[in-house]
Amino acid sequence: MTISSINWKRMTAKSGFRGSEMAASDSSLGLLRDATTRLKNSDAPQLDARWILAHVLRLDHRDARLRTDLPLTASQVDEFEQLTLRRASGEPLAYILGEWEFFGYRLEVTPAVLVPRPETELLVEWGLELLKDVPDPRIVEVGVGSGAVVIALANQRADLRAVAIDLSPRAIEVARRNLQAHQLLDRVELIEGNLLEPVTGDHHMVISNPPYIVAGDPLLAADVARHQPESALIDDLDEDGLGYHRALIDGFERCVGRSGSLLMECGQGQDSGIVKYAIQSGYQASSRPDLAGIQRVVHVESL
Ligand SMILES: C[S@@+](CC[C@H](N)C(=O)[O-])C[C@H]1O[C@@H](n2cnc3c(N)ncnc32)[C@H](O)[C@@H]1O
Repeated sequence: MTISSINWKRMTAKSGFRGSEMAASDSSLGLLRDATTRLKNSDAPQLDARWILAHVLRLDHRDARLRTDLPLTASQVDEFEQLTLRRASGEPLAYILGEWEFFGYRLEVTPAVLVPRPETELLVEWGLELLKDVPDPRIVEVGVGSGAVVIALANQRADLRAVAIDLSPRAIEVARRNLQAHQLLDRVELIEGNLLEPVTGDHHMVISNPPYIVAGDPLLAADVARHQPESALIDDLDEDGLGYHRALIDGFERCVGRSGSLLMECGQGQDSGIVKYAIQSGYQASSRPDLAGIQRVVHVESL
């Protein structure tokens, strides 16, 4: 059933749109056009609008039918409007949809976890490369969050086993549901705990995308960061952004021995300080850039 423009006006008014923002529309293409205008402050207004429409219509966002004029029921229009309003207020699309894709794998995301970021794929790629010739690798992930990193690794390596730690019980719950959805709970053990405290020896690698933003950084004022958990973003250890990296450098050898290594994501401009600390601690270290050219991942190993 398509809605009449009278219905549309009633619903958009109910949703809180001002008169000037209302546009009579009873088709998906019209809704997309209007939403794109309203989402002009987003990085990708058209994509956002299409993802929301796909979610409301229970279609894949790549579905070609989204490019045609589709009929929507009144409740679908209402849902589309509510979700568009949330996006226009700066809420990350991933929280609105309740799911996100990382390394090609679908994950549930809630405001209890960081939305997995594309640059973190480098952490997974480099990790896979380092483990290429290691049969039955055993790894530890610190700060599992949604489970994005360990799920990508375990899906790519059917012989991989992992212990995945997070301080946040709510993040652990989300990670558990994601691991279950990917049928990985038999290979990935989840532990609520602090840093590397819950584990000792005999692993091949420690991997982590730790909190590394300095409190007060303007990055935190950005809409996307405002909605994400502070404990996933802010370095509350040394408070200079490198506290977690130092703690992991100090502790990783206890978990991997002298043949294993440590792989960590870092923020723009942090790589040299981390490499320096690793070298001062008696290790060798190197970094690699992400697709934007930012040195994003640091690898630390014994000399
Ligand atoms: C930047 S998020 C990374 C989440 C996920 N691995 C990813 O890459 O999308 C950092 C995670 O570390 C967790 N965390 C913060 N402090 C921690 C600590 N002391 N020990 C263990 N995990 C911690 C946070 O709860 C958060 O889930």
